[in-house]
Amino acid sequence: MHIDILTLFRQMFQGMFDSGIIKRASEQKLVSLNVHNIRDHTHDKHHTVDDYPYGGGAGMVLKPEPIFEAVESIKGESATVPIILLTPQGRLFSQQIAQELSGYSRLILICGHYEGVDERVREHLATDEISIGDYVLSGGELAALVVIDAAVRLLPGVLGSAASPLDDSHVAGLLEYPQYTRPASYRGWSVPEVLLSGNHAQIANWRREQAVQRTCKRRPELLDKAELSSEEKRLVQKSR
Ligand code: 6GU
Repeated sequence: MHIDILTLFRQMFQGMFDSGIIKRASEQKLVSLNVHNIRDHTHDKHHTVDDYPYGGGAGMVLKPEPIFEAVESIKGESATVPIILLTPQGRLFSQQIAQELSGYSRLILICGHYEGVDERVREHLATDEISIGDYVLSGGELAALVVIDAAVRLLPGVLGSAASPLDDSHVAGLLEYPQYTRPASYRGWSVPEVLLSGNHAQIANWRREQAVQRTCKRRPELLDKAELSSEEKRLVQKSR
């Protein structure tokens, strides 16, 4: 997968791309990332990227020309690259959307700013708009990093074991079960006996039960979409 990012703050990406999963995925050539400065696509002496809003009001609005020109120079002739604008007005990001994006061979991400991006970018350039939650960030950069991390870790070969992303919270529509590692007893707090039993069927049952209980307690609205057995549905009904 190749990801191009358009931003006014290139340096915000460096730390993330130089560490952890994304670094490993780049080294293994499973992903390549290219961060572009929107300002490099201006032509005036002052490299102007924003301007006052027509009609008045607070803040500045990102101009369309540098963004269109940046995207066009990056995209080349390929017609089908998703062009995603990160904006609080976008569709709400989710594990499902991360999965969807991880299926593309290329992505172009445009980091907007909360004061706004000229509407013609949304209307005539972006093919998708994504928000990472109902709060306002000062720019789309952190949101782009969230989207990139969530999508890249799903690319085949990126995580150690092929099975591990399937256990993640939200994949089955449930929160993840509790995890423990050594020591078996720490300050008198013991790891649940079943996890030390070596009985894999029992362990799987316990984890599933914990995931359902935890979701029921913390994020009950997720249960409406989760696939539960009839036994699990009964348990949920009882504790509601
Ligand atoms: Cl994608 N951008 C900004 N500026 N704020 C956000 C957001 C995006 N998602 C949630 N808040």
